[in-house]
Amino acid sequence: MKIVLPGGTGQVGGILNRALTAAGHEVVVLTRRPTRGGELRWDGSALGPWSETINGSDVVINLAGRSVSCRYTEENLRAMMDSRVDSARVVGEAIAAARRPPRVWLQMSTATIYAHRFDAPNDEATGTIGGGEPDVPRYWDFSVEIAKNWEREQQRARTPHTRKVALRSAMVMSPDRGGVFDYLLWLARLGLGGPVAGGAQYVSWIHDHDFVRAATFLIDRDDITGPVNLAAPAPLPQRAFMSALRTAWGVPVGLPATKWMAEIGAFALRSDTELLLKSRRVVPGRLLEAGFAFDHAEWPQAADELVRRVRQERGRS
Ligand SMILES: NC(=O)c1ccc[n+]([C@@H]2O[C@H](COP(=O)([O-])OP(=O)(O)OC[C@H]3O[C@@H](n4cnc5c(N)ncnc54)[C@H](OP(=O)(O)O)[C@@H]3O)[C@@H](O)[C@H]2O)c1
Repeated sequence: MKIVLPGGTGQVGGILNRALTAAGHEVVVLTRRPTRGGELRWDGSALGPWSETINGSDVVINLAGRSVSCRYTEENLRAMMDSRVDSARVVGEAIAAARRPPRVWLQMSTATIYAHRFDAPNDEATGTIGGGEPDVPRYWDFSVEIAKNWEREQQRARTPHTRKVALRSAMVMSPDRGGVFDYLLWLARLGLGGPVAGGAQYVSWIHDHDFVRAATFLIDRDDITGPVNLAAPAPLPQRAFMSALRTAWGVPVGLPATKWMAEIGAFALRSDTELLLKSRRVVPGRLLEAGFAFDHAEWPQAADELVRRVRQERGRS
């Protein structure tokens, strides 16, 4: 297949590009700064010569969006919103204009669309969309708004010959440097991987191999449209999540952090505490219903496997 990855230069794009290329597919990445073969320039907001590569492609997986790991200043929040909405809109326009449109358009979304909650898991049918939860900072609503607008942009695109799926993905765990697993492992190795603000908040996650397998499954399954949760079936409280990670690496202790310590840490790391404190309890209702089987369903085993790969890959470098 010919697979186009707008925004495919980042963490998730790297994971998909490697796996899809290894499986024998032709992968074209759309980026604002092409530096290597297989990359084409676009600006993420307007049609241009790049649109021609959509014509005759089989699959588009749009990953573009300003990183959410940043301070939530007004300017950054605006860029987080616009980069997602604009890129989804222009990908839709390119598909609509194609003489031979792709069969399927997978649009990245996020598990953050669901409410901050502890009581029950969110699947696609019964889950609660976030916004307005009591006891959380009001600015958290903005991340949910981003996700809703992002998905709405895909829904409203007029692409009658192209199946549309929104990937409500949890954090994708891979051994790559700079990815979220790398960051959490770094904290654990420093002895800082303890519970944050009590650690009762749920962490949803998906192993990189399962992420690729789920994306491939959704490409193949012509009967599935709309939002799909990409998360392992066993989200767990942050306290247990970090404890399993410490065990996997062999770190004996993890210092607990209070909310204000997390705030200082997030400030120092130019990030935001929402990423640590929001309870994301998200489960893959539609994938399981459709018969998808996770290779890495439980976090302790997944963490072991990821640590093994980190050691292998870094041992070599
Ligand atoms: N990583 C995860 O665990 C995870 C989980 C759920 C959802 N997501 C979402 O999935 C998408 C991909 O995640 P990722 O971790 O691969 O993100 P990433 O590493 O930050 O990569 C995103 C890509 O988007 C492009 N981009 C950034 N700002 C842009 C802008 N203003 N206009 C157009 N393109 C822009 C960049 O490509 P160029 O600089 O090359 O143009 C960048 O490589 C993101 O939207 C993210 O929010 C990620």
